[in-house]
Parts: sequence; structure tokens; C-alpha cells
Amino acid sequence: MDQLILAIAQRLAAASGLPVAELVALIEVPPDEKMGDLALPCFRLAGKLKKKPPEVAADFAAALAGSGSPVAGASAAGAYVNIRLDRAALAAAVLGEVSGSASGLPVSKPGAGQTAVIEFSSPNIAKPFTVALLRGTALGAALSRIHEALGFKVVRCDYFGDWGTQFGKVITAFRKWGSEEKLKSEPIGHLLELYVRFGEEAKVNPALDEEARAVFRKLEDGSAEEMALWERFRSLSVAEFERVYARLGIKFDSYDGEAYYRNKVQAGVDFLRAKGLVEQSQGATIVNLEKQKLGVMLLLKSDDASIYASRDVAAALDRQERFRFSKLIYVVGADQKLHFQQLFKSLELAGCEWAKACRHVDFGLVLIGGEKMSTRAGKVVLLGEVLDKAAELAAKIIAEKNPEMPNKERAAEAVGVGAVAFTSLVTRRNKDVDFAWERILSFDGETGPYLQYTHARLCSILRKAGGAPAGAVDLGLLATDEEHGVVKQLGRMSRILADSAENCEPALLASWCLDLAGAANRFYNQHRVIGEDAALTAARLALVDAVRRRLRAVLELLGLVALEEM
Ligand code: ARG
Repeated sequence: MDQLILAIAQRLAAASGLPVAELVALIEVPPDEKMGDLALPCFRLAGKLKKKPPEVAADFAAALAGSGSPVAGASAAGAYVNIRLDRAALAAAVLGEVSGSASGLPVSKPGAGQTAVIEFSSPNIAKPFTVALLRGTALGAALSRIHEALGFKVVRCDYFGDWGTQFGKVITAFRKWGSEEKLKSEPIGHLLELYVRFGEEAKVNPALDEEARAVFRKLEDGSAEEMALWERFRSLSVAEFERVYARLGIKFDSYDGEAYYRNKVQAGVDFLRAKGLVEQSQGATIVNLEKQKLGVMLLLKSDDASIYASRDVAAALDRQERFRFSKLIYVVGADQKLHFQQLFKSLELAGCEWAKACRHVDFGLVLIGGEKMSTRAGKVVLLGEVLDKAAELAAKIIAEKNPEMPNKERAAEAVGVGAVAFTSLVTRRNKDVDFAWERILSFDGETGPYLQYTHARLCSILRKAGGAPAGAVDLGLLATDEEHGVVKQLGRMSRILADSAENCEPALLASWCLDLAGAANRFYNQHRVIGEDAALTAARLALVDAVRRRLRAVLELLGLVALEEM
């Protein structure tokens, strides 16, 4: 598709004197089929050409109309040029592109030579966390893969919340009520339980808080006994998180978190101080951002203890130093918006050019059955438990629908986890998502299982036919609206991929998957793929194979396993 758009842009550039790149960027695939295969809005170009938009549209339509393949027709509609493509030329270009790429992904790699540091998940050890964490984790993982697909070198960072006063509390609680056994079998749950119990007991016994503060001070001073406990809590938690990450197909490059940066804070504060940005206020060390309407960023408390913001300053400086990134993405909930605005503004004021390359990719809440997750005891849902439940429900559905299915357990895991991942991604980031089990696991809604099922269906058609056609195929035979619809969806992918990265919005890719699956379903429900006519069968199988490959590639980008049988 990109090649055809380029060819058309070149013709229009020759006719108008406008730059090719500008025309390429403006040509779009309109949402409504009736408007043609491609459309070009002429509002912006009109100013440059000193004409009215409809005049420009009429000129362009005239220039294209008889210009031959890949243009089959062009007409002006108001300020738009609507373009119909030669179906055979489009099919040849798109299917050629898919089969020319081993991965099924676009071959152009605009991110090559650049590094994207993507920080996501970043759980707080020993503090309650919720399914919201799952959403951020799925988002960050998808963005990492999307950037890799575009050629970026990606560094995946899990910025562990592994330092802070909560450790004073859990160490105190562990010494009083802890269980070695539980710590080993379910560290995250046990630490959480201790944290919650500590909170309850401290309400009636405030002396506990004092004790916890003293323990944390010892930890900050590096006391061996406290450090050993902290170390164990941390490494057991990492191991348990890694089991969840493995289920989601994620591997991090770094777990350097708040503890790692606690000793690097001073250098960061000194850096900002040297730039004249640091003030003392009531004993605390701050960056005053009142002029920028961003309030005050606290760096050091009056006892010079480091806090969240100063560790983030240190981490950003360190990441730039280590990775020379061209993008640093923080996938973190929308409630931390101000924190990141302050962080980026401070770096910008300190003259860090690269502050512009930092971005807070925020996201909305996760609801379960319409209810907001809170950290109040009883409503906390552990990450692994959500996945377990999804896999369990998927197993039930599979047992009903397809008791003969091979490898049922693996399939249930893939479908359950896929349903959770897809639900986290298909909704635009800024919207809340609702994990209504029945809906997200449905095989025929806008769901992960539906896409996996479509993929399996395509595989099954190919199995029946004995594989994809070898040798030359006459793609000009793919002439029906349904076939053309599928080809067009396939052709849109490279743009959608680039837009998803640009906007850090995997929802675009997720919706594209649904559109592709919809088009594919319309095609094979209305036309027999394997029929009497050998040439037509070969052409249709080639189309089925191209959809299968692209769908699989994108499902994997989104973190779903593309099953071959379902
Ligand atoms: N651990 C933090 C939390 O759960 C999120 C960390 C976000 N990343 C950062 N660099 N501050 O609230």
C-alpha cells in the first residue's frame, strides 16, 4: 500500500509542484468504503497553492483520473479527492509485501539506529497493587514490541518500588507475625498481608509506627540485619513477578528501581543545583516550578532523606548517560501526571535537550464488574490471581465448545491471558477499562479470543488445502468487494503500526486487528476458498495465508499467542 501511495503522491507532486512527502502524509485510507480506497483532503494544500480547497481537489482528481494503474478512478467531493485503486495492482503490492517479510511485519524500519527506553510495570514491593498494574504492564510490553517492530533497540525497565518507609513496616510486621513458609510460597501475597495487618494494628497501637520508622532508618544506614531481610523480600518478590511476566511473555532488561537510585540522588540534586534550580524551603530542598504553574517539586526532606522525585531525577540522568535514548517512555497511571510534568520541566530548565524525548504515557483505571479497585483490604486482586481466573474460565469455555481440542491446558492459558491482555489494550489509554469476565472471554465480541479463533480458522483452511500455494498466483482474480476489503486492511498495517508508536497507543493496532478479522470473516463466510477453480483457489489461499501471517504477527506484538487450533 505504501508503494502505491508513493506512486500517487509522485504524480500529484509532478502536477502541482508540492513536495512528495507532504502529499504522502496527507493521503489517508478513509473509514467509509464509499469514499474510495484512498482520500486526500485538500484544505492545507489549498493555502500553498493559493486556490480554494474544492478547486485543488478538482484539479487533482483530473490529474489522476486517466493516469493509469494503480489508479482506477478519481473524483472530487468537496475539498477531498477520492481515489479508487486498481484492485489487482493493490493485491499484488500488498500480498507481495507480506510474503516478502519473514515476520509478516512491514520491512521498513524507521526506528533503526535509535534506542527507546521503556519503563513499565514498576510495582511497589510490599504495598497493595491492583489489576491496574496489569494494564500498565500489558501496555508497556506492547509498546516495547511495537517499537522493536519499527527497528528501535528497546530497553525494558522495571522500576521497582523497592525502597521507602513501607519496608520499615513490613520488616517490623514480619518479625512479629511473619511466616517463613508463606514468604517462600507466596511472597507478594504474604508481604501484602503483613503490610495490611501492620496498618490495622498500628491504628490501635501507634507505637508500632515509631518502631517501623526506626527500622527504616536502620535500613537507610545499611544495617546488615535489616538489609538481609530487605534483600530477601526483594528477590523473592522479583522471582514471583517474573512468573507473572513470563505468562505475559515479558522479559525485562533492568530491575533497577528506587533502591538502586537511592545512592545516586545526591549527584542529581547537585546537577540541578549547579543549574541554579534548587532552593531551600522550610528545611527541605525543592525545585520551585510555581512560575511554570507546576507547583513545587520536593527533592530532599528536611532530614535530607531522598524521596520519589529525587530518585526519578537520578534515574533519568543515568538512563540518558547509559543508553543515549531517543525516547524515554514512562508507562504509569494518570494519577502521576503532575509528578512527571515536574520531572520533565526540571530537566528541561536544567538545559537537558533530551527532556523533550521523555514522555509520560498515562492510562486510566481498571474496573472489575464496573467497580473501581481500591487498596482497601478485601478488594485487592493479585496479578497472578487475575490470570489464573481468566485461564480457569477459558478452560471451561473450551471444554464446552471444543472438548476435542489438543493441548487444552496450553490453549486455556493462551486464551485466558490473551483475553486479559487484549482488554487492557483495545481501549484507548485515557479511558477506563472494565474487566467483565464474560464479555472479555467471549469468542465473538471485540475480544482476544475472537482474534485467536479467527487465526485458528485461517490455519485450518490452509491445513485443509495442504498449505499455501507454491509458485505464481494470479492475484487479479481477487476482485470481489470482500477480497478487496481484506487486501485493503492488510495494506493499512504499516501506517497503523507507526501511528501506534508515535501516539504510544496500542489500541490503534488492536482495533486494526479487529477490522482485519472482521474483513476476513466476511470474506470466507461469503466465498468458498477451496473450490473447483484451481487458479481462483490458489489466489484465495494466498490471501488467507497473508492474513494469517499478519494477524499472527500483530497478535504477538500485543502479547497474545496465536493458536493454530481452537
Ligand atoms: N512504583 C510506582 C507506583 O506504583 C510507579 C513508578 C513509576 N515510575 C517512575 N519512574 N516514577 O506508584
